[in-house]
Amino acid sequence: MREFTPEYLEHTRRGMWESTAALDPLELESRERVVDVGCGTGELSRVLAAESPGEVVGVDADTALLSVAREHVPTVAGDATRLPFVDDAADLVVCQALLINLPDPAAAVREFARISSDLVAAIEPDNAAVEVSSTVDAEERLEREVRAAYLDGVETDVAMGERVGDLFETAGLEVVARRTYRHEKLVEPPYSEPAMESAAKKASGAGLADHERELRAAGADYDELRAAWREMGRDVVREMGEEQYRRREVVPFEVTVARV
Ligand SMILES: C[S@@+](CC[C@H](N)C(=O)[O-])C[C@H]1O[C@@H](n2cnc3c(N)ncnc32)[C@H](O)[C@@H]1O
Repeated sequence: MREFTPEYLEHTRRGMWESTAALDPLELESRERVVDVGCGTGELSRVLAAESPGEVVGVDADTALLSVAREHVPTVAGDATRLPFVDDAADLVVCQALLINLPDPAAAVREFARISSDLVAAIEPDNAAVEVSSTVDAEERLEREVRAAYLDGVETDVAMGERVGDLFETAGLEVVARRTYRHEKLVEPPYSEPAMESAAKKASGAGLADHERELRAAGADYDELRAAWREMGRDVVREMGEEQYRRREVVPFEVTVARV
C-alpha cells in the first residue's frame, strides 16, 4: 500500500474545499450517515462534517493517519475492499484520491455500493493533466518529465479522473452527476512555511526520492534526473530569497456521483 505522511496530505489539500460548489451533487445537506473511505488525516471528512447534518465516519487502512482524522470525526480502521460495515450502513459513501492508489479499485467500488443505501461518490484526480507554471523555467520542464516517467512506472491508475464513471457503471451504479474541480495552488510572496519546506525538499532531492521506484521502473536515469532536480530546487530557494519566485499548479479532480 502506498504510504502518505500527514504533512503531505495537509499540504496538498490546504484550501482545497474553500468553495464547495463542486460537492453539490453529493446532497450533503440531507445526508444522515456518511462514510469517507481512505480518509487519511480527514481533510475531506472535515468538509463533509461541516456541510452535512449527519454523522461522518472516516475509514482508512493507515492507523497513524487515522489518529489525526480522529481529532475531527469518528474513525474506523479498515480496508476499502472489505469495509467493516453492514449492508446499507450509510446514505453516502465517498472517497477522495483513494481509487487511484488501489491495485483493484473495482473491488472497492463494489464495497461502496454494498454499504450505501443511496449515493456513492468519488473525487479522483487526473494526474496526467496537472498544469504547472513557474518563474524557474527548469521546474516546468523537469516536472513534466518526471510526471511522464512516473505515470509510466506506477502500477495503479493515477490518471483515472473521469474513468471513475465506467467503474461505477460496471458495479451496477447509475451515474447521476459529474463535475470537474480544478484545485489551484499558488506559491507567491510572502511564502508560507510549507512552501519553504517544499522548496528545501526540492533542493535536497528528498521529494523526488519518494518516487524513485516508479521512475527507475519507467527506465529513467534517476541519478541524472536527481542532479537536475536538485539544481532546479536551489534556483527555487534562491528566487525565494529574492522574493521573485512564483509557482502555479492546477490539479483537475473529477467528482463523480452515482445512485445505487
Ligand atoms: C492520497 S491519500 C488521500 C487521503 C484523503 N482522502 C485526502 O484526500 O486527503 C490515500 C489514502 O488512502 C488510504 N488507503 C490506501 N489503500 C487503502 C486501502 N486498501 N484501504 C483503506 N485505505 C487505503 C491511504 O492510507 C491514504 O490515507
